[in-house]
Amino acid sequence: MRVGMIGLGNMGSAIANLIAGNGYEVLGWEYNADIVQEINSDHLNSRYLPDIDLHENLSATSELQKVAGQSQIIFVAIPSAFVKPTLEPIRYQMNKDSVLVNMAKGIDGKTGLTSYQTLSLLFPGNSILMLSGPTIANEFARNMPTVVVLAGEHRQDLLSVARLLDNNCFRTRFSDDTTGVELGGILKNIYTIGLGLFDGKDITSVNFRAAYLTIAMEEIAKMGSAMGARIETFLYLAGIGDLLATSLSEHSHNRKMGTYLAQGLSLDEIRSKMGVLPEGYNTLQIILYVAEKLHVSMPLAKGLWDVIHGRYDAEYFIESFIKDFVV
Ligand SMILES: NC(=O)c1ccc[n+]([C@@H]2O[C@H](COP(=O)([O-])OP(=O)(O)OC[C@H]3O[C@@H](n4cnc5c(N)ncnc54)[C@H](O)[C@@H]3O)[C@@H](O)[C@H]2O)c1
Repeated sequence: MRVGMIGLGNMGSAIANLIAGNGYEVLGWEYNADIVQEINSDHLNSRYLPDIDLHENLSATSELQKVAGQSQIIFVAIPSAFVKPTLEPIRYQMNKDSVLVNMAKGIDGKTGLTSYQTLSLLFPGNSILMLSGPTIANEFARNMPTVVVLAGEHRQDLLSVARLLDNNCFRTRFSDDTTGVELGGILKNIYTIGLGLFDGKDITSVNFRAAYLTIAMEEIAKMGSAMGARIETFLYLAGIGDLLATSLSEHSHNRKMGTYLAQGLSLDEIRSKMGVLPEGYNTLQIILYVAEKLHVSMPLAKGLWDVIHGRYDAEYFIESFIKDFVV
C-alpha cells in the first residue's frame, strides 16, 4: 500500500509519521523546499514538528504529481485556503481509484466552499473521507492517546484508512455523516477565537468556560443541522470533542488570535504577527452570511465579529455574553 500526504506541516507530518511508524511507506508533498530536504536527509521537520524523530518510511518531495500518481490513499493536510490552488493543477492526474482523506478544517474565503466540498468538485470520481475530532498533532506525535472520527460513505474505504492509522495510542471511530464531521471541525474555530478573547481579559474560571463552551456547542449544533448535518454528530468526538480540545489547547492559532484581539490589536497587526489569519476568521465571515440566508440566529458568533471589527469593545461583548446568554 502506497500512502501520500499533501502538506508536511504540523498535522501532515504527525499523521505521516504515525502511518510510517505503523509500517507503511509514505511519500509527502511539501511546499517548502528546505523541509523536503531536511526530512529526506535528517528525518526531521524542525519548523513544524520540532524534537520528533521521523520514521525512515517517510520521505518527502516537491513534486505533487508523484504523490498523486503513486498513492492509493492520499491525505490532505494543508490549510483550507491552499486546497484549491494546490490541487487544481493536478485534477486530471489523480488516479480514479485513489481514496482521498481530508484533514483541513476551514472554508476557502474566495470560493465560500469547505475543503471537503472543494475536493469533491475537483475529484468527482474519487471516494473522499473526512478525518477529524480532537487531534492536536503535537500530542499524538508524542504517542499521547488520541481517538478520532473517520467519516465516509464506503465501509471498505473507512476500513482501509483505519488500518493505516490505528495502533495502541491512536484509534479511529467511523461515521457516515461527512457533513457533520467536517462542520464540527470548521465551526469550533470561531468559538476558539472567543475563548482566547476571554483568556486575554483574564476571564479563565472553569464555571465561565463551561458556560461559554456549552453555549458555543449549542450554536454549532443549530447551525450545523441547518446546513445538513445530523445533530448527534456534534455530541461526539468531531463536535464537542474537537471544541474542547482546540479551545483548551495552548497550541491553537485561533485561540492566540483571540488573545491578540483582547489586547486591542487590529486585524492588520494580528496578520503581521501571525503571518496569516487563522482559519476561524474566514469561517466566521462566511458562516454569518450563510446563517442569515438560512434564518439561523448566531448571537455569539455575531458578537465576536463585531468585536473583531471594532463595533463593540471586548468588555461590552463579555458583559452582554454574561447578561444575555447565560440565563
Ligand atoms: N495542527 C493540528 O493539530 C491540526 C489538527 C487537525 C487538523 N488540522 C488542520 O490541518 C490543516 C493544516 O494545519 P497545520 O496545523 O498542519 O498547518 P501548518 O501551519 O503547520 O502547516 C501549513 C502547511 O501548509 C503548507 N503551505 C504553506 N504555504 C502554502 C502555499 N502557498 N501553498 C500550499 N501549501 C502551503 C506548508 O508547507 C505546510 O505544509 C489545517 O486545515 C488545520 O485546521 C491541524
